[in-house]
Amino acid sequence: MEVPCVAVSRVDGEQTRQALASAGVLSEDYQIVHEDGTLYIPVTDPATVPKEFKTITRELPAREGLQAPADILGFEPSLERLGDVVIVDEDDSERAQEIADAVLDSDLPARSVLNRASKIKGELRVRDWELLAERDDPDVDRKPTETVHREYGHEFLVDLDSVYFSPRLATERHRVVEQIQPGEQVLDMFAGVGPFAIPAASRGAEVVAVDLNETAIEYLRENADRNGVSERITAIAGDIHEVAADYHGWADRLVMNLPHSANEFVETAVDLAGDECVIHYYDIQHDSDPFGPGIETIRAAAEPDYEVTVETEHVVRSYAPHELNVCLDVRLSRK
Ligand SMILES: C[S@@+](CC[C@H](N)C(=O)[O-])C[C@H]1O[C@@H](n2cnc3c(N)ncnc32)[C@H](O)[C@@H]1O
Repeated sequence: MEVPCVAVSRVDGEQTRQALASAGVLSEDYQIVHEDGTLYIPVTDPATVPKEFKTITRELPAREGLQAPADILGFEPSLERLGDVVIVDEDDSERAQEIADAVLDSDLPARSVLNRASKIKGELRVRDWELLAERDDPDVDRKPTETVHREYGHEFLVDLDSVYFSPRLATERHRVVEQIQPGEQVLDMFAGVGPFAIPAASRGAEVVAVDLNETAIEYLRENADRNGVSERITAIAGDIHEVAADYHGWADRLVMNLPHSANEFVETAVDLAGDECVIHYYDIQHDSDPFGPGIETIRAAAEPDYEVTVETEHVVRSYAPHELNVCLDVRLSRK
């Protein structure tokens, strides 16, 4: 069957397999194939493969004895996996149900199958879900929308029904977290369940994580505990506009992952910035000028008090036709 996989030379094989496993994208459903000095390692979702690897699509045999949903359906369904939750995105309810039944009948380690029932909405950026199928597991006492996602050596308990979470940003979060130095003061203005804040604390940063969604902050505290970094994280449920008053000039680094409306929070970000501060500013813009509006907004808020240096203009992913999700890494240096 044609599946996404990473192609690497055989000598780099084991190191690559381990890197893909820690990124949480190694597929257990297909066999690794060796051909002419190249290894083809199957992955679950090409969009979440760390950028340093080349992803291609090719025939790979299913793991012996394992039945995939496609073997039952006779076509390859579009599925996303988050821990033991499988997500489909189908408008046709009959087809959605057919896929969900096949998922539970297959050998995928799935506990529940959900269909997207609305767009991501509101300030809390949560969507509605339809539960299509659920496997009764007496050993697991969790809602069908709750699961544990693993990413770059960390684990996150997530309830899709009450908090925002996207596994597609794993590589991007890793790109940002790798820049963090021990001892830095990092403030995540829109922290969710902690996928930036917790790895930042693992790097040795002192972290303040803020979110308007009280449930997200409860999950973040639980996740900090699970990953052994509770002592380095202050988790605050509240509006960052109000919380900012307690952290004026505090941050060496700010994470601003609220891409549809980050521009409304730039003045608050400047207020939080220390004398030297890097801002990771996420935005969604037309592909004709994806970075210009963000740079302009930051300059308008920070100059002339700060010198503004754009360190990186980074395309995270395509968001919609002609719309890009981008990140600006911008350094503010007080004059
Ligand atoms: C796109 S999500 C990002 C969550 C997290 N950083 C992640 O990558 O999974 C944006 C988050 O911002 C939070 N939010 C929205 N408005 C806020 C505000 N005024 N103050 C603090 N958090 C806010 C939402 O509740 C949501 O969890």
